[in-house]
Amino acid sequence: MENFDQIESDILNKIKNVNNQSSLDSIKTEIFGKRGVITELFKKIGSLDQSKRKEYASKLNALKTKVTEILKEKFVDFGQSEINKKLKNEKIDITLPGRDYFAGKIHPVSQVIDEVTSIFAEIGFSVEEGPDVESEYYNFSALNTPENHPARDMQDTFYLNRSKDLLLRTHTSPVQIRTMLKSKPPFKIIAPGRTYRCDSDQTHSPMFHQLEGLHIDKNINMGHLKGCLYYFVKKFFEIEKVKIRFRPSHFPFTEPSAEVDIGYKIQDGQIKIGEGDKWLEILGCGMVHPNVLKNVKVNPKQYQGYAFGVGIDRLAMLKYGINDLRAFFESDIRWLEFYGFDPLDVPTNYRGLSR
Ligand code: PHE
Repeated sequence: MENFDQIESDILNKIKNVNNQSSLDSIKTEIFGKRGVITELFKKIGSLDQSKRKEYASKLNALKTKVTEILKEKFVDFGQSEINKKLKNEKIDITLPGRDYFAGKIHPVSQVIDEVTSIFAEIGFSVEEGPDVESEYYNFSALNTPENHPARDMQDTFYLNRSKDLLLRTHTSPVQIRTMLKSKPPFKIIAPGRTYRCDSDQTHSPMFHQLEGLHIDKNINMGHLKGCLYYFVKKFFEIEKVKIRFRPSHFPFTEPSAEVDIGYKIQDGQIKIGEGDKWLEILGCGMVHPNVLKNVKVNPKQYQGYAFGVGIDRLAMLKYGINDLRAFFESDIRWLEFYGFDPLDVPTNYRGLSR
């Protein structure tokens, strides 16, 4: 029979002399691995004589228990010394002054999208989104836009390829189509997002933002449209008496169509909304054209409703007195510091943006 005492003292000696975790790992494998010392001893049990088997097995089990325990202790030791080492090295000097925290600002466009979304959410609109890269079908055809309509022209629209089937959406109206195709009426949604047109001056940027609105149900009429927009403008500009006018217009996807202007005046170089005799266009709207409803398999005899598209950047310019649209997208940190908004959870050691 094996000399278990000798084996035990050999193993324990080895373990005792180990001084790091990874050698301990390999010793563990030497003992208990597939070809490990103790593993091999266990394999022998089957070939032993009946008379010796019992004594051999009980000695071997005792050895196994002992070695396992010692190994465990050694692993714990290493773990603890690791922690102690870390504690020693990662001392914190609490007398050092704290680090300044520089919080960013919220861009006026993001701020206005949040404001507008919450105003419409209060009256039951949910939010939808669509892709910036659209197909010609969603952006024009499904919206009843004739083949020869000037908006489809290369001068107005950014096409992504020669075959003209992919483009950067020129308005958020394709989200109307996507929304109506994916479920059944009634629909009551808004869709904020980026839009693109070949255009650039003080009040036009090639990339700008719109908010689409769509409300389709069984008895929706132009009165609902007017009521909804009045409510929105009052809430958004935070004024009770607001002057707005609906001017007849044309869009291929609405009939009748209107553009909405808001009354304002300039006082001491500042723009005053809701008073005066000047008018500024802020949105396009109308009753959804029956052809659009047919295109998305909604029966126009049963359902009708209104849609509108508001220029978000325009709203921001008006409400916060910003007079050049191009500055919105120049990423000038000084501009953002001036016109941007503080996030709600400004940390206590916030020191603004300046470094
Ligand atoms: N899509 C139109 C535009 O970009 C606005 C609009 C939306 C008009 C919905 C009517 C209905 O000018």
